[in-house]
Amino acid sequence: MSESIEICILAAGKGSRMNSSRPKTLQSLAGRPLLEHLLGTTHSMSAIQTHVVVGSGSDQVRDAFATSDLNFVDQTEQLGTGHAVQQVLPHLTANRVLILLGDAPLVSAASLSRLLAAECDLGVLTVDHPSPFSYGRIIHDGDQIKEIVEERDASHDEQAISEINTGVMIADVALLTRWLGKLRSDNDQEEYLLTDIVSIARQQGHRVVAVKASNHQEVQGVNDYSQLAELEQYYQKLAVARLQAEGVQIVDPQRFTLRGELTAGQDVLIDVNCIFEGQVKLGNNVKIGANVIICNAEIGDDTVIKPFSHIDGAVIEDGCSIGPFTRLRPGTYFESAVAVGNFVEIKKSRLGVGAKASHLSYLGDAIIGTGVNVGAGVITCNYDGVNKFETHIEDGVFVGSNTSLVAPVTLGEASTIAAGSVITSNVPSRALGVGRGKQRNIEGWKGPRDK
Ligand code: UD1
Ligand code: CA
Repeated sequence: MSESIEICILAAGKGSRMNSSRPKTLQSLAGRPLLEHLLGTTHSMSAIQTHVVVGSGSDQVRDAFATSDLNFVDQTEQLGTGHAVQQVLPHLTANRVLILLGDAPLVSAASLSRLLAAECDLGVLTVDHPSPFSYGRIIHDGDQIKEIVEERDASHDEQAISEINTGVMIADVALLTRWLGKLRSDNDQEEYLLTDIVSIARQQGHRVVAVKASNHQEVQGVNDYSQLAELEQYYQKLAVARLQAEGVQIVDPQRFTLRGELTAGQDVLIDVNCIFEGQVKLGNNVKIGANVIICNAEIGDDTVIKPFSHIDGAVIEDGCSIGPFTRLRPGTYFESAVAVGNFVEIKKSRLGVGAKASHLSYLGDAIIGTGVNVGAGVITCNYDGVNKFETHIEDGVFVGSNTSLVAPVTLGEASTIAAGSVITSNVPSRALGVGRGKQRNIEGWKGPRDK
């Protein structure tokens, strides 16, 4: 029979130390549920099937991963990690099963592939931990493991051991079935402990080895929010290191947050407190000021994003200038050399080469041509309370300040709109559109100041 593998993720525990109504696997790390991180890592392992043992909050987990091809297995009573694996046994068809913990989401692909390569009947991923407290300790016996002793069952000497059980194991399925059949719950926890299969396997003469993980942070379990925050820091540290290696200058690695995927060209600079979400692509020589949030966006070469800007669902071509305090909403497209400034909000609009909107504007559902100048306080009135309408501003138009453009409306090429206008009908090419009350001056006016 050829070698085949399945994955079993234990995620039925209540996670009571989180004190949360959400199941632990749905807690978010770098903007994504813990389980998603784990699945991202196992994705490339060509497992026949991935089984997830769920218990408390199982509906929430199923809903969150409804579109996945995971096999959810119920463990209605949480009688321990050994009992959890027992629930999966009837579903297994492969020769070997890789057991992972849903609350240890950052175990690396490198560590897992070393574990898979180990010659053994049972392989345990272990690590030397600077504070082994609360973990199961590894008791060696020559080149094999003799036993795993849980913290609460450990003697004083055993507690001093720094090598811990990460909870990740690889096992031969036929043998695992035999070992699990021998588990008993007559321990301090009154649970069926998966860790007991080590001594059972050894008693039956099977080979049990330890494989060391690359470092202790990657196998850190999340039992409370403090550990979740530590793991988040570790995740961000890895992200920063990867970006630095690609040539990105991150001014303060402690104040950088990635919640998705960020790719960047050369000579990119990211100032402090920036957050990147979803899929973000930065070209060469992009400069991002402090406190900028960018979500699902593509930013072209030499573009500068000034502080406190929020960009979501936008494509920005080369050499643009954005911010400070700009908000770009989904469907924004900037051709090259566009400049938008403070308190400008743009939604579902395209701005042509060199177009400018420097201050205090709302541009929604607008097609704006090359070289257009949008004055301060220009608003596209795109919504009548029921429907949305488009505004077309052709090449070279100058829109004076504080103008309302009541859509649908078209401003013809190179037209000029007088400041303070309310434009309700199309303006022909090269015309001046004026839509405001005529000014009159009353001479010798006696106001309250004169009384
Ligand atoms: C477990 C290990 C410990 C190891 C540590 C690593 C056991 C007995 N102990 O301890 O040796 O050092 O992980 O982080 O295995 N779960 C179920 N069903 C249950 C109980 C737990 O699915 O009935 C799941 C939990 O959701 C969790 C995982 O198994 O994802 C581990 O359970 P947890 O209670 O956190 O075990 P630890 O005490 O951390
Ligand atoms: Ca745990």
